[in-house]
Amino acid sequence: MRNTFYITTPIYYVNDVPHIGHAYTTVAADVLARHYRQQGYDVFFLTGVDEHGQKVQQAAAKAGIDPQIYCDNMVPRFQDVWKQLNISNDAFIRTTDPQHKEIVKQYLNDLHENQLIYSADYTGWYCTFDERFWTEKDVVEGLCPDCKRPVERLSEKNYFFKMGQYRDKLERYIVQHANPPDPYIAPQSRCNEVLGFLRNPLEDLSISRPKSRLSWGIELPFDPEYVTYVWFDALVNYISALQYLTPDSKNDPSGSFERYWSPQRSGPPGVEDHTIIHLVGKDILTTHAVYWSTMLMALNIPLPTTIFAHGWWTVNGEKMSKSRGNVVDPHRMAKEFGTDAFRYFLMREVPFGQDGDFSEEALANRINSELSDGLGNLVSRTLAMIEKYCDGKIPESHENAPTLDESTVTASLGENIALAKDHIEQLRFSRALEAIWESLQSCDRYIEKNAPWKLAKNVADRPTVYRVLYNVVRSLECVLPYIYAFMPETGYEMARQLGLNPKIEQKQFMIEKLRPGTLITKDKPLFPRIEPPRTQGEPRVTDQPSVQPTALTPTESTPAPQPAQPTPAAVPQITIEDFQKIQLKTATVLAAERVPRSDKLLKLQVDLGTEQRQIVAGSGKRYEPEALEGRRIVIVANLKPAKLMGIESQGMVLAAGDKGVEGLVTLMEEVPPGTKVK
Ligand code: MSP
Repeated sequence: MRNTFYITTPIYYVNDVPHIGHAYTTVAADVLARHYRQQGYDVFFLTGVDEHGQKVQQAAAKAGIDPQIYCDNMVPRFQDVWKQLNISNDAFIRTTDPQHKEIVKQYLNDLHENQLIYSADYTGWYCTFDERFWTEKDVVEGLCPDCKRPVERLSEKNYFFKMGQYRDKLERYIVQHANPPDPYIAPQSRCNEVLGFLRNPLEDLSISRPKSRLSWGIELPFDPEYVTYVWFDALVNYISALQYLTPDSKNDPSGSFERYWSPQRSGPPGVEDHTIIHLVGKDILTTHAVYWSTMLMALNIPLPTTIFAHGWWTVNGEKMSKSRGNVVDPHRMAKEFGTDAFRYFLMREVPFGQDGDFSEEALANRINSELSDGLGNLVSRTLAMIEKYCDGKIPESHENAPTLDESTVTASLGENIALAKDHIEQLRFSRALEAIWESLQSCDRYIEKNAPWKLAKNVADRPTVYRVLYNVVRSLECVLPYIYAFMPETGYEMARQLGLNPKIEQKQFMIEKLRPGTLITKDKPLFPRIEPPRTQGEPRVTDQPSVQPTALTPTESTPAPQPAQPTPAAVPQITIEDFQKIQLKTATVLAAERVPRSDKLLKLQVDLGTEQRQIVAGSGKRYEPEALEGRRIVIVANLKPAKLMGIESQGMVLAAGDKGVEGLVTLMEEVPPGTKVK
């Protein structure tokens, strides 16, 4: 048998619109599913919707339609957004599936027959919104302690699950399984919270609702006057799905159940790993850690490996809510910023488990600095150099060619990859990404240190150029599976451009081994830089020039509105002697790269025939650095050197444009570098 990995998200209430909270858990689950598939595990990834209960019944009534039709109409909203976010779930459960309903009834019957469910009269304070009773001490001034809405006094016969009797057993279990690598409740602070909750006596759980009050639910198999409490119904999804939604469940439902639900903690080498993880938000930890765990105990089903509760997102520092109108729509985020960029942000911005704040500015900053300038720039400059110095083919490794600081890429690579793997498996997604980005940065430093563009001029140094580029491509090959788990499209595209011939077979991402001589395919940059957000709904990807055409360069087809032209008299005139003070010369761009933390500045190495110079140019918003390499440009050669963002600039590049660069001045003919321009 293979190692197995079963990962679940909460099933989302179908009456809500998908928001960042839903996307957060689902993307995290997807990263884990993709990661474990690549580790050779037999993965089952489940998500779905929770369709029963008061809220759905009320929403359907408000819409004036039958609840089932209402649910059928709402479900595609979730399915569509998961498609857009590239979620690779293996199944999508609906609690109105007839098979699920049947399985819930079977479990209810089992518990009832074993006297673990009994009926009793119950009087308490009921909150319709939260669909639950509260005790006297919970209610403050007649309001629900959770949602702060008024509660009402209700007395009714109900069915109760004997949850209370499992208190000690559950507490012991949590304490015994409190430590990494497989804590039962994680993170630690949440585990302490549950233990705190269990310090009080644990009451039995009402698992029914009289039909007179709520009819939209699964009928109790032993009393047709009642439906099942929505949480009992919903939690069962984690095991019902295994009996009818897995690949072999049609032929062998119980075998299929056992295939993914035989939890076994990772033991000594050779022992198979059968991990089950429930990802939930912090607000639904008690229902999972206490209700679900005790339900499983009562049903004699082993407990899952880990229940992990993540934190909540605020939006620009405020609580997210419909009434505030600040609900973050994952569909819009993916559309405007890109699916992978949004996925990256969710996983990178906040340590999983802690609360975090979402803002479009923070998202744009990460895209520009880490995806565009970081990963994207490294890949495109590497490919540009392979095109230029290696005829567009992966170079030989030239193991005997000396390169500077080689160990910073090779040794740190191994370390960082091991770290990234461990961090992902411990659900420390942001640290996993940090480790991967650390490898990318060491590649950048290694390139800088060795400066292949300088070495390439000397034939004797060519093997070193090949070795540098080989080492960088090799590092990119090694981090690819991790990039893919977080950003599937980017991983695929990167592999394609690097000539690694990616394939996806049975949801598994496969690349060929790096082979010298393989042709690369340099293509569009992976992440175009984006304008920081201004107003809602504006397009952000700046694949258009960020500077609008000025009155001096209206396009022929669409004349631009003409701002008032300065009168000739207003422009100070100069003499020919004045002009001759400026020494203009032709130059060839040898190498170009972005200045860190600047979206505007590029650092150029230019050839002036008799000398080489470094010039900082302000054309980074208009051009990717590679686009400039090899260009014949015009520079002001006698400008006093100056420092821009700490980098010395020995001259100035001529460009057209008023407020920003619209086009570089280039030469039509092959004039040698260093020729005077007048
Ligand atoms: N139907 C139940 C879960 C049943 S699981 C057997 C439910 N559904 S829900 O639609 O309300 O789920 C919401 C999920 O989104 C929860 O995990 C919740 O923590 C999460 N979030 C809701 N708002 C959130 C944020 N602002 N930030 C992060 N996650 C948030 O509960």
